[in-house]
Amino acid sequence: EEYEEYAVNEYSDISEKRFPKAIIVGVRKCGTRALLQFCGLHPQIVHAEREIHFFNDKENFQKGTTWYRQQMPLSLPSQVTMEKTPGYFISADAPNRLKELMNKGYIDNSIKGARKMITHKIILVVRDPVDRIVSSWAQILENRVKKGLPPPSETLEDRILNRGGRVNRHHSAVRTSIYLKWYRNWHRLFRGRILVIDANELVEYPWKSVQKVEDFLELPNLVDESEFYFNSTRGFYCMNNGKGPGRPKCLNKSKGREHPPISTNLRKKLKQFFYIYNNAFFKKINQDFGWNR
Ligand code: A3P
Repeated sequence: EEYEEYAVNEYSDISEKRFPKAIIVGVRKCGTRALLQFCGLHPQIVHAEREIHFFNDKENFQKGTTWYRQQMPLSLPSQVTMEKTPGYFISADAPNRLKELMNKGYIDNSIKGARKMITHKIILVVRDPVDRIVSSWAQILENRVKKGLPPPSETLEDRILNRGGRVNRHHSAVRTSIYLKWYRNWHRLFRGRILVIDANELVEYPWKSVQKVEDFLELPNLVDESEFYFNSTRGFYCMNNGKGPGRPKCLNKSKGREHPPISTNLRKKLKQFFYIYNNAFFKKINQDFGWNR
C-alpha cells in the first residue's frame, strides 16, 4: 500500500480540496469563529467557512470522507486546511471517529486510491464556564426575539438550578461547561497534539492566540498585531484586511452580544460548582486561565 504524507505531496502544486489537518473542536460560545477567522489571515491557512458537523453527525459521517473533503476550500500543498465544528468537543463519537480515520488514512481517488495519512491536530478554545453559559443564554434570548417569540417565562436561574437550589449538572449548558469531562476523551486519543487557547487572550490579544496556532502547526509567524485594530463600537478587535467572502473586517453581529444580567445567587452557585472542575482542568492542561481567582 502506498502511503503519502499530507501536505508534502511534492508532485503537485495544484490547487485542490484537501482534508483538514487542524480542527477547532470547540467549545461553543468561547470564540471558535474568531479564532478560525483570525487564523485565516495567515497565507498558509485556509478554512471551511461553515461548520461541517462530519464527526458528530451520523448522517454526515455516513456520507463518507470524499464528501468531507469536498466541503473544504481549495488549497495548495504548502497550505494547511482547517475547519471548526464546536459540536465535536461534546460528542462521544467525534474523537473516536477522527482517530480511526487518522489511523486508517483516507482513500484519495485523485491519487489512484492511495491512502493519505494525516496527523490531525486539535485546537480548543475555552472560556470561563460561567461566561460561556451566560453567552449561550444570550443567544437563546436573541433567537427568540428573531423568531418573534416573547421572552421565556423562566429565568436562567429557573433553568439551571434545581428545586433544592443546586446547580443541575445535567442541564446541557452546564454539561458543556464541564470541560474536563470532554477533554479527557480527546486527551486520551490526541495527547501531545492538542492546543488549548484561552478565550480571554483571544479577545484581548488575538495575535497572540494566532501565533500559538502558527507555532502549533509549525508555520512561520506571519500574523502580528498590525493585522488588527480595536473597534470601540463593537468592543472587539477587528481585522484591517478581512479575508473570505465579502472580506468582512469584523465578526458577524451575532458575535459579542451584550450579556443579560444574572442574579448574584446564580453566579455564586455556578462559581462554586465549577471551582473543582476548573482546577482539575487547569491541572490536566498544565495552564491556569484564572477563572477561579
Ligand atoms: P459573546 O457573544 O458571549 O460575547 P463562538 O464563535 O464560539 O460562538 O464564540 C462567540 C464569542 O466569540 C463571543 O461571545 C465573543 O466574546 C467571542 N469573541 C472573541 N473575539 C471576538 C472578536 N474579535 N469579535 C467578536 N467576538 C469575539
